Amino acid sequence: MKKIGVIGCGARAACYMRQLKDGMGTEWKVTCLADPRALALETYKKSYTGEDARTYGSGPELLAAEADGLDAVVIASPNALHLESVLPALKAGLTMVLEKPIATTEEDCRAMWQAYVEAGRPSLAVGFVLRYTNFYGRIRQLIESGAVGDILSIEADELLGPSLTATYMRGWRRKHDISGPFLLEKCSHDMDLLNWFVGAPAARVSSFASRTVFAPKPGAALTCRACALRETCRYAVDKIAPYLMDLRPEYLQEIGALIPKENDLCVYNSDKDIPDHQVVNIAYANGVLATFSLCTDQPRTTRTLRINGTKAQIWGDIGRDLLRVEYHPARKHDEMRVEEVEIAHDGSGHHGGDSVIGDQFKAMLRGQPTPPLAGMREGVNACLVSLAAHRSAETGEPVNPRFVE
Ligand SMILES: NC(=O)c1ccc[n+]([C@@H]2O[C@H](COP(=O)([O-])OP(=O)(O)OC[C@H]3O[C@@H](n4cnc5c(N)ncnc54)[C@H](O)[C@@H]3O)[C@@H](O)[C@H]2O)c1
Repeated sequence: MKKIGVIGCGARAACYMRQLKDGMGTEWKVTCLADPRALALETYKKSYTGEDARTYGSGPELLAAEADGLDAVVIASPNALHLESVLPALKAGLTMVLEKPIATTEEDCRAMWQAYVEAGRPSLAVGFVLRYTNFYGRIRQLIESGAVGDILSIEADELLGPSLTATYMRGWRRKHDISGPFLLEKCSHDMDLLNWFVGAPAARVSSFASRTVFAPKPGAALTCRACALRETCRYAVDKIAPYLMDLRPEYLQEIGALIPKENDLCVYNSDKDIPDHQVVNIAYANGVLATFSLCTDQPRTTRTLRINGTKAQIWGDIGRDLLRVEYHPARKHDEMRVEEVEIAHDGSGHHGGDSVIGDQFKAMLRGQPTPPLAGMREGVNACLVSLAAHRSAETGEPVNPRFVE
């Protein structure tokens, strides 16, 4: 039976735990857990592992004691803490699911890449779960099949509704030092998708970022419970559904204890250092140009995109599970062909991507030759674009992200 360790027993690792349930105790077993929060360790023992899982306060402690006896590890601690676990896990040759963004600095990304190459490129999937969705999978198929022709430009965005916005403005992600730049933490997914669709290195990245809405608010307190504006505030903690990847009732019940109800920090007055909106331009080495916009405080959470090709244009809104493809007429008076595709999925988190990436992890545990859709190289390159955008927003200069190959 394969032995698995989990580092960071929060919401994201719980998604993998749910996906691994069917073979738990027969094909694999989670034998050890690392998290500094006793409540998280207790919840995981109760929901996923049983009382006999050994527990540790951090990833490095777990790996120092357990790496030799493990087959695989899930690394889902906060972003800046990935490297300290990835390096020993690579050294031990463990099969790995590593959450995005893989690291928060260019130095850490390149150190990880070097260690990965030196370790002989072990089986490793980065948690770019959107690649595993039917929505983005269909777009990729349309591009690969040649139906779009050559891509000229892409316009994409990520819009954050109230619940996700609040997660960023009051949770650990509000601080650079632990989450990395906002665009990296939230949109390394999107930078990865752009890289995937374009299929060439990004050569120049420029960006602007700003914080307008979530500035200190006169009359508001530091927490909702102490706040006189609580009745009218859109972000008062009792009005905001906690941000979770999977909203199915059985899941909510399972991880109920993890929902941070105690965190009612004011989204306006919190000690955040992240922007609340940002735009990015990317010039790829093959001539494709992409623009991307990230915006918080929007009516609903979604991602939309438009891909402008020489044969067709794709428009999509993942929040509505909808794609529309308009094909250039072959001749002047031909009617334009339009295809509207409603995308189906199984309802698991990230528009069905969570169950598919779970299957990917199971295939890796079984030693099946199914390569992940995103590994270390894709993880590093998506971070390099995001970090280049952050640097450009700070300096006002375009930046070459210098992809690894
Ligand atoms: N692929 C995706 O779509 C996706 C979605 C959400 C989160 N994530 C990523 O997953 C990771 C975890 O995010 P989350 O939403 O589960 O956050 P979370 O806050 O729910 O969980 C993080 C856990 O890590 C624990 N932790 C803190 N320091 C630690 C340490 N030194 N060693 C071990 N554990 C430690 C925390 O106590 C917490 O329980 C992040 O990298 C995040 O960006 C990815």
